[in-house]
Amino acid sequence: MTNLATYFDQLLFVALPYVAFFVFFLVSITRYHWRGFTYSSLSSQFLENRQHFWGLVPFHYGIIVVLTGHVVAWLIPRQVLWWNDRPLRLYILEISALACGLLTLIGLVSLMLRRLTVSKIRVVTSKLDWVVLLLLLAQVVSGVGTAVLYPWGSSWYAAMAAPYLWSILKLNPDLTYIAAMPPLVKFHIVGAFALILVFPFSRLVHILVIPNPYLWRKPQVARWYRAPGEAAGEPV
Ligand code: HEM
Repeated sequence: MTNLATYFDQLLFVALPYVAFFVFFLVSITRYHWRGFTYSSLSSQFLENRQHFWGLVPFHYGIIVVLTGHVVAWLIPRQVLWWNDRPLRLYILEISALACGLLTLIGLVSLMLRRLTVSKIRVVTSKLDWVVLLLLLAQVVSGVGTAVLYPWGSSWYAAMAAPYLWSILKLNPDLTYIAAMPPLVKFHIVGAFALILVFPFSRLVHILVIPNPYLWRKPQVARWYRAPGEAAGEPV
């Protein structure tokens, strides 16, 4: 490999991830501390509901399954390789992942079309929203492209990408496998770091707060208080 290629790999797969994670934690924490009320998805559901539903639901079901798959194969790569040992199990995993990838893509494209075509939604869409949507589109297209063009990604991700991600976490970056990966896969990995970088500035921060406290806080009972014969007032 030429010196220039090595230099680019160092920049994209060593420097970029650390910069991205540093900015992610710093800005997420300070934004939550100083401007906690901006932690929101700024939903536009009340402006238009139908297209919103048909885009948002497939997008979220698809992306949640796909990202869970990425995390599981990163955490327990050996078990994933064991599962893929049998062709039928490998096909089940790969076809399910591809179906969820396509579901994500359909949902995302439909959400983007909604923001382009519904005038009320266009007005409330910022430049940063478009940056995030285009980054997501690039990420999902390159992910589905990787799955189609370089088969059995679940196996080689577990064997080659997971060790790289662990090496980053352990502050001992190892580019042995990454350096040999095709440009599309490299693009997909860089896209992930770019998304992590813009995450804390964007409405994606809603992922960090959505209804998380409901999972551990005590159930709350809201009672409506009104005197007999009066119209409903404020909850107490
Ligand atoms: C923001 C983070 C990421 C998002 C949103 C994302 C999204 C996706 C999507 C939508 C797919 C298509 C799923 C399918 O059709 O099988 C995919 C596949 C894939 N992604 Fe990612 N990805 C992310 C990060 C990463 C990272 C960091 C790596 C590697 C270091 C990676 C490696 C792969 C591989 C190898 C596949 C193909 C899986 C297969 O063939 O089953 N992804 N990704």
